[in-house]
Amino acid sequence: MPGARGASKGYSGRWLVLACFSLVACDGPPDRTPTLADADVATGRRLVTDKGCVACHTFPDVKWPRGGLGPSLHGFARQGLIAGQLPNQPGVLMQFVRNAPGLVPGTAMPAITMSDQEARDVTAYLLTLQSR
Ligand code: HEC
Repeated sequence: MPGARGASKGYSGRWLVLACFSLVACDGPPDRTPTLADADVATGRRLVTDKGCVACHTFPDVKWPRGGLGPSLHGFARQGLIAGQLPNQPGVLMQFVRNAPGLVPGTAMPAITMSDQEARDVTAYLLTLQSR
């Protein structure tokens, strides 16, 4: 099945990129210690409004706006993959929320400027979204 083989090649390439993200020697993510230890869920909840995520996504506890360009994030914490291709893990999600095109070339999700702490808070909030 040539199609299937092609797909798995792309996938392992993606893993190489991720491996690179965890190595200090690479050009490098700004935050080299991805941990949610000091993340604040309530701040993350506020940030998805302040940073404009709500313009493209719906969140279970945000009544308005309810953006429809991107996927609904109801139950996102229970999802195995981010954008259908990256493992849904805190360290990866933290990079994705502020630099989606860097991880998923060609994605319609834009890069969004935020600090390391803000990315942690947003990630912690997203990982509370259990129910659909
Ligand atoms: C301009 C519209 C837009 C904005 C603003 C935006 N996103 Fe997205 N987002 C998208 C689109 C489109 C996708 C689907 C990406 C893909 O599959 O390639 C996506 C995907 C995602 C995903 C993965 C969802 C899934 O089901 O795999 C998460 C998580 C996410 N966005 C979080 C955020 C957060 C947090 C913010 C704010 C910091 C944000 N997005 C801002 C458009 C947007």
